[in-house]
Amino acid sequence: MFSIKVNGKDVVSAIDKKLIDFLRDDLHITSVKNGCGEGACGTCTILLNGKKVKSCVLKLSQVKNAVVLTVEGLTEREKEVYAHCFAQCGAVQCGFCIPGMVISAKSLLDQNLSPTTEDVKKAIQGNLCRCTGYVKIEQAILLAADFFREKREIPQRQTEAFLNTDFQRVDAKQKVLGEGKFTDDVELPGMVYAKALRSAYPRAIVNKIDLTKALQNENCVRILTAKDVPNNKIGHLVQDWDVMIAEGGTTRYIGDALALVAAK
Ligand code: FES
Ligand code: FES
Repeated sequence: MFSIKVNGKDVVSAIDKKLIDFLRDDLHITSVKNGCGEGACGTCTILLNGKKVKSCVLKLSQVKNAVVLTVEGLTEREKEVYAHCFAQCGAVQCGFCIPGMVISAKSLLDQNLSPTTEDVKKAIQGNLCRCTGYVKIEQAILLAADFFREKREIPQRQTEAFLNTDFQRVDAKQKVLGEGKFTDDVELPGMVYAKALRSAYPRAIVNKIDLTKALQNENCVRILTAKDVPNNKIGHLVQDWDVMIAEGGTTRYIGDALALVAAK
C-alpha cells in the first residue's frame, strides 16, 4: 500500500506506479498534464511537501506519506488571483502548460511576494510553453504577486464583449485552473487505449504486416491497417500522403503509421 495526502485528502494506491498516473488516472486530477512523461516540459509540476517537482519522474514508492498539492488544492483566493492575472495579461493560449506554470509561480510567491522579472524567469525555467511565449506569463506572475502583496480585490469581469472593451479570453479561467478538458482528460465508460505503430525506418518497403501474434493478446480489442481506411490518402494541397502505409507500400519518414491498435 502506498499512502499520500493529495490536496488535503488521504489517498492510497495498492500498487506502485508513476505519481502522475496516480494523480491523473486514479484521482482524475486534470491540472496535472502529461506533456512528455520524462521530466522535460514541466506540465506535470506539483508541490511535494511544499517543494516544486515534476510528478512524471517520481513513483509512489519514492514519495510515501508525502503531501501533494495541485492547482485543484489552491485556496479560493489563489485560484481567483491566478485566473484573473493570467487572463488579464493574455498569458493563456492553448493553456496546456499553464497549471504547471501556476504551481511554479506559487512556489516562488510563497517565499517572495516582491519578485523581480529575473526571479520569475528562474522560477519557471523548467516549464515549457510552446504557444504563448514567456513574456506574458512572466507579467501574469508579477501581477499576481502584486495582487497578493497589496491584497487587491479582483475587478468584476466584463460580461459582454465590444470592440472598445477590455474582454478576457472566455476559457482562460478553466485553463488556468486545469478544469478545461484536453483530449487526454476525456474519460468515457469502457474506454480503451489506442496507439499507432509507426515505422522505425525512413525508407522501408512494407512486405507484410503480420497481426497474428498481436491479435492473440487478450487485451487486444482491434487493429486497423490501411485496408480498413476507405480513403487512405490525405494532404493539405495534394492528397498524396498515406494515412497508413499498406502492405507493398514504402515508408517516407520515421513515424509513418503502419497500424492503429486499440487495447484494454
Ligand atoms: S510531463 Fe512531466 S516534465 Fe513533461
Ligand atoms: S499556453 Fe500553450 S503551451 Fe503554453
